Amino acid sequence: MMKLIAAIDRNNGIGKNGQLLTSIPNDMRFFRETTTGHVVVMGRKTLESFPGGKPLKNRVNIVMTRNPAYSKEGVIIVHNTEELEKALRPYPDRSVFVIGGESIYRELLDQCDTAYLTKIDHVYDADAFFPDIDAMPEWQCIYKSEEQTYFNLVYYFTEYRKQITV
Ligand SMILES: NC(=O)c1ccc[n+]([C@@H]2O[C@H](COP(=O)([O-])OP(=O)(O)OC[C@H]3O[C@@H](n4cnc5c(N)ncnc54)[C@H](OP(=O)(O)O)[C@@H]3O)[C@@H](O)[C@H]2O)c1
Repeated sequence: MMKLIAAIDRNNGIGKNGQLLTSIPNDMRFFRETTTGHVVVMGRKTLESFPGGKPLKNRVNIVMTRNPAYSKEGVIIVHNTEELEKALRPYPDRSVFVIGGESIYRELLDQCDTAYLTKIDHVYDADAFFPDIDAMPEWQCIYKSEEQTYFNLVYYFTEYRKQITV
């Protein structure tokens, strides 16, 4: 099972025009510290949203694209979920974090059992959204931090777990 990490606003907004809605230094640090040393899985558009379109340092970067000609230095390219599964085999001891964007969160949510969601108490103008996890009975919030602030922004670190039913 994979884990997922995202920063979402009050309407589950996650991005606009191919970029993040905001950048909160403590949340960026949380993301870096949580994912460093592990495997990150992202969509091609999210990779291209990074500075210089470069992969994240000190992590195994797996990028999903349907374009058979796409390649990028320092990343493992996969074209579907079967290829993703194969690409993860060499890393049985590492955590795998789904890091977005919208299409990848939607497609891989079912394969995740843990979600680290930074909830920003604000409504942004967004064009990319996270699934409405609070409306999914199998997902439960097991942790919510104290209120965090960054200038006039209020946000919370939360952790969700999926109830595995057999
Ligand atoms: N707030 C957060 O935590 C957070 C995190 C990450 C991203 N974001 C934001 O989310 C937005 C991007 O989301 P997005 O949905 O537009 O883009 P995305 O999910 O990052 O990338 C979409 C691309 O991934 C590829 N793809 C998707 N499903 C695939 C599959 N099953 N097999 C193979 N390839 C697949 C396709 O690439 P090709 O077109 O090359 O075929 C598709 O165009 C941006 O605004 C970004 O800043 C926010």
